[in-house]
Amino acid sequence: MDEKKTYYLTTPIYYPSGNMTIGHTYTTVAADSMIRFKKLTGYDTYFLTGTDEHGQKIEKKAAEAGVTPQEFVDKIVAETQNLWKLMNIEYDDFIRTTEPRHMTIVQKIFRKFYEQGDIYKSEYEGLYCTPCESFWTETQLKEGRCPDCGGPVQPMKESSYFFRMSKYQDWMIRYIEEHPDFIQPPSRANEMLNNFLRPGLQDLCVSRSSVKWGVPVDFDPDQTVYVWIDALSNYITALGYGTDHDELFRKYWPANVHLVGKEIVRFHTIYWPIMLHALGLPLPGQVFGHGWLLFGQDKMSKSKGNVVYPQPIVARYGVDTLRYYLMREMPFGADGNYTNEALLTRSNADLANDLGNLVSRTVAMIEKYFGGAVPAPDAVDEALDTPLIDRFRAMPALVEKHMDELQFSVALSEIWKLIGDCNRYIDLTQPWVLGRGEEGRPRLATVLYNLAECVRAVAVAIGPVMPNTPKRIFEQLGVGDPALQTWESIQAFGALKPGTVVKKGEPLFPRLDIPKELEALSGGGTGNEKKEEKKEEKQEKKAAKSAEKAEKKADEEENAALITIDDFSKVKLKTAKVVACERVEGSDKLLRETLELGGETRTVLSGIAKYYSPEDMVGKTVVLVANLKPRKMRGILSEGMLLCAEDSEGNLKLVTVEGGDFPSGMEIG
Ligand code: ME8
Ligand code: MG
Repeated sequence: MDEKKTYYLTTPIYYPSGNMTIGHTYTTVAADSMIRFKKLTGYDTYFLTGTDEHGQKIEKKAAEAGVTPQEFVDKIVAETQNLWKLMNIEYDDFIRTTEPRHMTIVQKIFRKFYEQGDIYKSEYEGLYCTPCESFWTETQLKEGRCPDCGGPVQPMKESSYFFRMSKYQDWMIRYIEEHPDFIQPPSRANEMLNNFLRPGLQDLCVSRSSVKWGVPVDFDPDQTVYVWIDALSNYITALGYGTDHDELFRKYWPANVHLVGKEIVRFHTIYWPIMLHALGLPLPGQVFGHGWLLFGQDKMSKSKGNVVYPQPIVARYGVDTLRYYLMREMPFGADGNYTNEALLTRSNADLANDLGNLVSRTVAMIEKYFGGAVPAPDAVDEALDTPLIDRFRAMPALVEKHMDELQFSVALSEIWKLIGDCNRYIDLTQPWVLGRGEEGRPRLATVLYNLAECVRAVAVAIGPVMPNTPKRIFEQLGVGDPALQTWESIQAFGALKPGTVVKKGEPLFPRLDIPKELEALSGGGTGNEKKEEKKEEKQEKKAAKSAEKAEKKADEEENAALITIDDFSKVKLKTAKVVACERVEGSDKLLRETLELGGETRTVLSGIAKYYSPEDMVGKTVVLVANLKPRKMRGILSEGMLLCAEDSEGNLKLVTVEGGDFPSGMEIG
């Protein structure tokens, strides 16, 4: 039997501490697209995702919600699995770290480390960042805060187990140096070497006695396994490592790629490889640290209310539109902004115009000129047909190359080059002119055959990223034969059979009225759909124009990210002393501060009650946005806003002014 090559890919296992955002969706869609591509190109694939359910963060969230940690995570996990169904994610396994199959093996791994001397017991004294579930030393902090997320750290002192990471430091450095593909993009490898490994790797605290929500250390039940040791193990426990039924492990390990966001590259390229090495296991082929999806110029955060969730977008525009946007808009590895405008512009330009039009024009012309049957091609025109056919022939290998480098956006652009060439080919060959008389018919047959064959290749190639769209194209194209829907079948030009009966269908992607959609997405909604349907034609023109406008606007926006000194001077920042502070009744978020600034007294409401008590606040000198339009909340007029720093989990820390006594009401700027 002919053994297929295996391909094992993972996403991080996400904390079920809140609903999954479009950021989590980004990684998951990337992984699913990659897996579908590998399946299409003949691999035996395995796709693992799941949830990271233990640790202090979850413990805290559950307590806040007044439920047990298990109840808390169960609900979010169920919602997460529904979301992945909605997004058309075809994972092979979804591992939950609270499952016995995972926990028993984590215990076994921990015991092995202890027995072979990789772990020793000692006293931990240091600092802990709960959102990152991360230990730090004083010198690693950035301005007293967590160097990863910028949030506050808490002092911690307890007796714990430690992993002798230092013992493996030199091996790890050498491994990274000798395997340039191991950490991608390469800049992240340099970061690991220069910031963590070469300065000296410290032993890692790998158990906690103060955290109860975790995997108990079986030989010392007062301790639970540090959540990162627990979590990273998922990549092998899910495959049955350490059990009697470890067929999957033997078949798929080592993983080909771990896909992770850039903020957790450190755990995956230092601690995880060392754990594996200590277990005597081979390392994954690659850890790819992709960039962040930002909102506006900001990292998304719940407390700012700028988190984007995928569900409303899917409900309005469909899964494939969102998946396409996520994979196309920004280079994988770099940060990029999520904007509704960019999504709508892509949908109109790339999907409705480029792809949708090509399919509908091709099918419509075959119906009009050949009664719906794909004509047999005649002689090849070297000047017009050959470049198109060459593009067809080059496309699959280029797509494969870029996909292998996880350059989704570049791979898609290769497919869109073929689409663009087809549309230009229509303009150049002018089928409507060829269709005027008998003498044009042989040429017309060639043109339409070539177009239909290219459309078939496009449908095959977009499938991994847009799994719903190919079948809609194949239906219109009359391609029912699965053999004509394979990657194999587009390696050579001409597999489409003349005589295939096409059938015009609905437009693949509707043209969106961008201003109207923007309003609807921001909660407006117009409700005039019926009336507008009648004006369809007018609308289409308008939409095309506004797509253009939106593109321009997106450019302008990009430039507008930089502000002038005049823009900045519009904001009046002043120091203010908190002279009184109380909780706002009926709100668990808001504090009401009375501020004194240079003889003036102001009332300000701030959503920081989770992080500061009223007693903490009194006496602080804070920074006030003094010329903000007053706003009424809970019946109280808030006259300004206090500046806060915010970490990736939405935890807030006030910006304060230190250094003893000076007058309040000073201007900053
Ligand atoms: O870190 N842009 O879980 P987590 C891009 N449990 N990617 C984003 C994103 C954004 N705005 N927001 C989230 C954990 N992600 C640990 C992992 S693995 C053994 C344990 C994606 O819920 C990105 O992949 O904080 C990031 O690494 C992951 O979600 C973080 O998920
Ligand atoms: Mg995180």
